[in-house]
Amino acid sequence: MKKILITGCAGFIGFHLSKKLSKDYSILGIDSFEKNKFSKISQDRVKELKKIKNFKFKKISISNYKILKKIYEKNNFFAVINLAATAGVRASFNNPDLYFKNNILGFYNIYTLSIKQNVELFMFGSSSSVYGNNKDLKTDNPISFYAATKKCNEIISHSFLQSSSTKIVGLRFFTVYGPWGRPDMAVYKFSRNINLNKTIEVYNHGHHSRDFSYIDDIVQSIFLIIEKIKKLKNYQLFDIGKGKTNSLKNLLSLIEKNFNKKFKIKKTSLQKGDVMTTKADIKKLKNLTNFVPKTTLKSGIENFVKWYKTYYK
Ligand SMILES: NC(=O)c1ccc[n+]([C@@H]2O[C@H](COP(=O)([O-])OP(=O)(O)OC[C@H]3O[C@@H](n4cnc5c(N)ncnc54)[C@H](O)[C@@H]3O)[C@@H](O)[C@H]2O)c1
Repeated sequence: MKKILITGCAGFIGFHLSKKLSKDYSILGIDSFEKNKFSKISQDRVKELKKIKNFKFKKISISNYKILKKIYEKNNFFAVINLAATAGVRASFNNPDLYFKNNILGFYNIYTLSIKQNVELFMFGSSSSVYGNNKDLKTDNPISFYAATKKCNEIISHSFLQSSSTKIVGLRFFTVYGPWGRPDMAVYKFSRNINLNKTIEVYNHGHHSRDFSYIDDIVQSIFLIIEKIKKLKNYQLFDIGKGKTNSLKNLLSLIEKNFNKKFKIKKTSLQKGDVMTTKADIKKLKNLTNFVPKTTLKSGIENFVKWYKTYYK
């Protein structure tokens, strides 16, 4: 079986991707369990993963080059998928040092080791936030430090192209949600608060809209890109999302319906770094894989709330 290294496997996307890919590949998952108030769910995700035959876990930080190098020397990875990062737009204003350490220094380590070891495919998690509020879809004007780190990853990973045989794929994720999701993201936060009868803060007076992307569609997209490795160009960036925009109001009403409760809402102004609207352009993904994400927001939220109620029973 071909070996794949997945970093950030205790995280939301890394967890689901490890599960999916371990059906066809031997997976080494690493994570540093960055300390935050969501540590419990990260530990629980890894507990689940450890039950899988083709999955092995190591607690390692991608900012530790020496240990990482040993891991590369012991294993012959066919592909490396870097999902380890400090995620989130707003927190990047308060703690840019941490974002620098994990998202730029850590990224540099994993990228350069992958090139030196000639892995066939290096994939990494970028973000829709690189588009900022640019209507022309240019990515030169990040409006948060988080977005700047992701743009930086895209540029760094282009730099050794002429002297390396490794294919590079950047995955610009669009607001991913679903079971085992990220507790700091809207779908999860709103669900927690409605369940506890707590007020939710709705930024920008609720006028946001997002390309809400269901996790199963996201990991299927990544799986299919890997399967099409022969058709991949040397360097490609993909929008990875549903390709459809939904309003925040629509999201709120679906969550209310599934909890059979009404939200207590406090409307607040637009937050620093927030983008007004997002929509993935899934043409490139469709051209390569023939895949079009299918999960509607309605059924995705149903699945999420079902999982949420079971997890917190
Ligand atoms: N979830 C989304 O909607 C979304 C959107 C855009 C981009 N992304 C990007 O996709 C990737 C995965 O996102 P996620 O939602 O699964 O985030 P997550 O926070 O759930 O997972 C990230 C994981 O990386 C780990 N990590 C952080 N620094 C590390 C380090 N130095 N060494 C090893 N592990 C480290 C964390 O402990 C965590 O488990 C990230 O790069 C994120 O920026 C996610």
